[in-house]
Amino acid sequence: MKKYFVIGNPIDHSLSPKLHNYWLKENNIDAIYDKKKIEENHLQTIISEIKEKKINGINVTVPFKKSVIPYLDKLSQEAEQTQSVNTIILSNDNLVGHNTDIAGFTKAIKSLKLDFKGKKVFILGAGGVVPSIILALNRMNVSKIIVSNRTKKKAEDLKSQFNNLDLLDWGDMVDFDIIINATSLGLNKETINLDFSKYRNNKLFYDVIYNPEETNFLKEGKKLGNKTENGKLMFIYQAHEAFKLWHGIEPPINSQTLKILNND
Ligand code: ATR
Repeated sequence: MKKYFVIGNPIDHSLSPKLHNYWLKENNIDAIYDKKKIEENHLQTIISEIKEKKINGINVTVPFKKSVIPYLDKLSQEAEQTQSVNTIILSNDNLVGHNTDIAGFTKAIKSLKLDFKGKKVFILGAGGVVPSIILALNRMNVSKIIVSNRTKKKAEDLKSQFNNLDLLDWGDMVDFDIIINATSLGLNKETINLDFSKYRNNKLFYDVIYNPEETNFLKEGKKLGNKTENGKLMFIYQAHEAFKLWHGIEPPINSQTLKILNND
């Protein structure tokens, strides 16, 4: 039986096992997908188990998307460009790091029939998934990307990676068409301590968080008359891309898939 893992810390909130195990079963693949909370000093050991063929593939989540890179032999072009890896495969005995978050975000926005071209996008946060979102936004030809992060240094590091960013001090606001919460605020029902009250009607409030389904950020955006979307489809599409890399199969994404992820 093949074995797959998602590794991260924390990892409790991850719905990856639910989704991958559902698709494995649907496709009669003799494999199991589990989650594993690890510490940074165990990264090398667990990744080496892929080379030893004890593990067949790993998804990587917060906070290890960058720190796994030194243990890999090769990176896909997109993983290289973003310095972010969320899927590891063994290919011709090489450990290869891929980034399926970019396709995940792009396909989610497309399937929601949202048009980002020419839009001014304000990103809150500068963590693991943000380089992937920025790369995807640049490909969508947005007019401007503004990033604000509590720890300014991390936003500055991003700017050295993507020079078309505008940076804003945490706590300051700027006009936008689309605001993306890419912080972890909301995972545990926290509110974001920013004043959104001026931003009403016809804006898009997008949250990368999908569990809980509606964060306080989205609730507030909605109350102000804006459109809101959570990160559920992004999550599904990034998993879908990883599944395709590992198993060569693209399962259908339909209402049943969405139902699998309903929290009960
Ligand atoms: P990592 O940054 O380790 O990759 P992440 O979950 O991808 O982890 O990112 C967490 C994001 O949420 C970061 O942008 C973080 O800001 P810092 O870089 O300043 O840590 C942000 N974040 C977490 N808690 C926050 C808080 N209480 N207020 C503001 N931003 C917060």
